[in-house]
Amino acid sequence: MKKEVLTTIKHCLKAQQFDLATLYRICELTDKVKEIGATKEGLNWMATLLNDKRALLFFTQPSTRTFLSFKNACDILGIKSTEIRDIATSSFAKDETLIDSAKTFAQYVDLIIMRLHPAHESLIEEAPKKLNDRIRIINAGSGSDQHPTQALLDFYTIYKYGFAGKNIGFVGDLQRGRTVRSLALLLTKLDNLKLYFIAPPAYQIKDDILKQLTVSYELVYDFDQIIPELNVVYMTRLQKEYGGNDVPYNQIDYSIHEGNLNKFKKDAIIMHPLPRGSEIAPSVDDDCRAKYWEQVHNGLWVRVALIALMYGMDYDIIAKSSERMVKTLGTIN
Ligand code: NCD
Repeated sequence: MKKEVLTTIKHCLKAQQFDLATLYRICELTDKVKEIGATKEGLNWMATLLNDKRALLFFTQPSTRTFLSFKNACDILGIKSTEIRDIATSSFAKDETLIDSAKTFAQYVDLIIMRLHPAHESLIEEAPKKLNDRIRIINAGSGSDQHPTQALLDFYTIYKYGFAGKNIGFVGDLQRGRTVRSLALLLTKLDNLKLYFIAPPAYQIKDDILKQLTVSYELVYDFDQIIPELNVVYMTRLQKEYGGNDVPYNQIDYSIHEGNLNKFKKDAIIMHPLPRGSEIAPSVDDDCRAKYWEQVHNGLWVRVALIALMYGMDYDIIAKSSERMVKTLGTIN
C-alpha cells in the first residue's frame, strides 16, 4: 500500500468528507475484511476487534438492507448493539426533544448509527457538536439529503469493475433520491469519467449537488437513446414518501425491461440501491450485468471496513494482525 498522510474518520456524516485516498482505503480494507470473513477463524478473530464497544441503531425511517447490514457489521466486529426503530416506543412520544434523546443514548453506547426522517434530519449536524466527544455518529440516511454509506458501497461496487473512462448514468427520481446525491459527490473526486443524470425535467437532480461537481456531467431526458453509451447504469425508484412532486411521468420510459436490455453494452453493469419499484423488471435479475444483489452483499463488508477504520483499524493493522492470527490458528483459506 502507498504510504500517505491519511485523515481519520471520526464520524461518517456526509459524502463530502471523504477524499479519494480514504475512498480507496475503504475499498482495499473491504477486500481484506471480506477475505478474512470467509473463514470461521477469521470471523472469530474479527469478533474480538471491537468487543469493548456498544452501538445503538436509531432508525426513525423504514429500512431493510441498511439496518440489517449495520446490525450484522456490528456483530462481525464484536460490537454489542441495541436498536430503536419505532420512536413511538421511546420518550420521543412524551415530547422529549431529539437532542435530549441523543444525549441519553450517549450515556449507554459508543456509536450511534442513525437513519432519520426529514423532520429529524438536523440531528446529523447537531449530535456531533452536542454529544460527548467519545461518541461516534454514522449517517445511515438523512431524509432526502444524503446516504453516505450507501454511496460507499456503490463506490466499492463500481471500483470492482474499474472506473477509468466510464460513463455513469443515474436514472429515475433524482430530485429526491439521496443515494444518487451522495454517490455523485463521491464520484466527483475521480476524473476520467462522465456522469449522466437521466430523468424527466421535474425529477432532475437539484442544483445544490450539480454546483459541487467538478467531474464532467450532462442532464439527459431520453433514457433509451443514451443506454448504448453507458458503462454503469444506476437505477432508482420513485421516492413517493417524501411528497412535494405530483408531476406524473411514464415510469416505463425510465426502466429496464426485456424490450431495452439488448441496447446495453455487453460489459455494462446495472445497479440499484433497492428496494426497487417497476424500474427493473424481475427478469433482468438473470442477466449477468445485473449487480444489485452484489451491492447488497458489498454493503455488509463496506460497513465492517468503515467501522473498523473509524476505530483506527487501518488496512496495515488488520492485514498484519490477521497474518499473525493465521499463523496461530492455522491456514485462513
Ligand atoms: C435507499 C434509501 O433508503 O435511500 N435504500 C437503501 O438504503 N438501500 C434507496 C431507496 O429507498 O430508494
